Amino acid sequence: MVEELMCLVFKFKFKFLIKRRNIKESQTGGNYFMQTRAIFGFLGFIAVISFGIAIANYFVKYINKRYISKLGKEKQEIVVLYRKIMKIIIKNHKLAGTVAIFAVLAHFIIAFTSIRTSITGIIAALFMLTIFFLGVYGAFINKKHKGMWLKIHRGMAFVLLIAIVIHII
Ligand code: HEM
Ligand code: HEM
Repeated sequence: MVEELMCLVFKFKFKFLIKRRNIKESQTGGNYFMQTRAIFGFLGFIAVISFGIAIANYFVKYINKRYISKLGKEKQEIVVLYRKIMKIIIKNHKLAGTVAIFAVLAHFIIAFTSIRTSITGIIAALFMLTIFFLGVYGAFINKKHKGMWLKIHRGMAFVLLIAIVIHII
């Protein structure tokens, strides 16, 4: 039942795609194209989710400083729960950023070889690559969690957010 539904949804998306790109269904290689397209979309989705976790590093700290640390003793339960989630996000920051970059790489390879390239996608990927190398530099070479590298790393993350939105819409 679920499989049938997924298939229906995907068939609909596939038809829409073909219409948008103005190509004949017979030119796509049918099922093979559909499967590749599904993997491609899934990789883009993974990239977006892991990017979301990576950039949340900033927001969880901001919310903690601005709101959570000002909560009174009676709200202690919320504070404890919030800090737990915050720690998980901060601890997995490097992992989330790395997963995002590999997902984008695979998404790019599929786009480049079988779907089509996208200039907005390439711009977003270049930003992500720079952020990634700056993060690696900060975490393993510089090792100080402040300074110019972090300012650029953080600033570019927000530019990347805009670039990704432009790429997807
Ligand atoms: C930060 C980097 C990137 C992220 C987060 C990202 C994410 C996404 C997502 C979520 C979609 C929608 C998938 C769907 O419709 O099922 C998409 C579509 C697309 N991406 Fe990316 N992408 C990135 C980089 C790239 C790069 C480097 C390329 C190729 C050079 C690319 C090519 C495409 C194309 C062609 C589509 C549209 C497919 C279509 O509807 O015809 N993307 N991307
Ligand atoms: C998509 C990729 C990434 C994004 C969007 C991103 C975003 C951010 C942001 C917004 C901050 C600032 C947090 C704050 O204000 O304290 C930050 C901090 C940091 N990032 Fe990244 N980052 C990414 C990947 C990476 C990678 C791959 C590494 C290392 C391997 C890394 C290492 C760090 C380090 C060490 C900090 C300093 C603060 C901390 O440890 O929490 N980042 N990142």
